[in-house]
Amino acid sequence: MKKVLVVQYSQSGQLTDVVAQIVGPLREAAGVEVIVETVRPVSPYPFPWPVLRFFDTFPEAVYLDPPALQAFQVDPAERFDLVILGYQAWFLSPSLPITGFLQSETGRRLLADTPVVTVVACRDMWLMAQEQVRGLLAACGARLVGHVALVDEAGSIGSFLATPFWVWTGNRGPRLWGLIPRAGVNPREIAASRRFGERIASVLAAGRPLDETLLRGLDAVRVNERLIGSERAIRRGFLLWGRLLRSLGPQGALARKPVLLLYIVWLVAMILTVVPLAALIKTLLAPLTRNRIAAQKAYYSAPSGSR
Ligand SMILES: Cc1cc2nc3c(=O)[nH]c(=O)nc-3n(C[C@H](O)[C@H](O)[C@H](O)COP(=O)(O)O)c2cc1C
Repeated sequence: MKKVLVVQYSQSGQLTDVVAQIVGPLREAAGVEVIVETVRPVSPYPFPWPVLRFFDTFPEAVYLDPPALQAFQVDPAERFDLVILGYQAWFLSPSLPITGFLQSETGRRLLADTPVVTVVACRDMWLMAQEQVRGLLAACGARLVGHVALVDEAGSIGSFLATPFWVWTGNRGPRLWGLIPRAGVNPREIAASRRFGERIASVLAAGRPLDETLLRGLDAVRVNERLIGSERAIRRGFLLWGRLLRSLGPQGALARKPVLLLYIVWLVAMILTVVPLAALIKTLLAPLTRNRIAAQKAYYSAPSGSR
């Protein structure tokens, strides 16, 4: 009997839907047992988010401060053939409940020496978040064998407004007669995620090892090279603002509020200027930097590889 552990957290249920598609073929397969563990913070994060509370979460997200979690159902001493870790990006970092799981004693024990497939479903900026997840997995002694990344169908510009309005109101839209498109991953893409579970089930059934080739050739990841530079620049800024805000008190502290307002202005300005500027520079320099971009894409799409 092969055992697969699924660890996930989702606010709207979107990531749960993605993970359910991947897990479907594993549940249907003979000889595979699937256990799903939903991460539950002791103090739940709100959904929809009050706007200031949303921004007030970023320093802890960026600095990977683990929140307290409710006890897990799964026995940390159990060994699994594969762990599927579903997460969403929060401020270019993994969401805080997943950060908490990856730093918990239970997480460390479950992940040690175990192959892991990461699954992210987010707006469209996940590169730096996956970097953090890679680091946390390595610290647990886990072996990353596959990565799946799904992004919002509205694209970078459309989702710039669509996704915040979704998480602030709970309503995906579309809004304003379609001027702000529907938020979230295209349901057809979610349904098509079944192919990843089919591949995993066939590898398990054949008794082949779960290695870095697991999800190759399935179009599991598309790296938008135009976002690499801006994600790096914004993360550097996040670290500076985050340090300042954390020095003013814990989440919810009154002293944080005026600085948070300045940070929001900075963030919007960054997204409206640095993101398009970095994308333009990347496009203009593309003929000269083809090899470097190819190396960056290979790095960020590893281990699944892009098309
Ligand atoms: C606090 C917060 C921060 C977010 N930051 C990012 C981000 O940095 N990059 C991104 O692509 N999406 C970001 N999103 C969108 C989420 O990754 C995700 O698409 C959305 O919250 C739905 O996830 P769910 O499965 O939890 O409902 C953020 C959402 C929240 C609530």
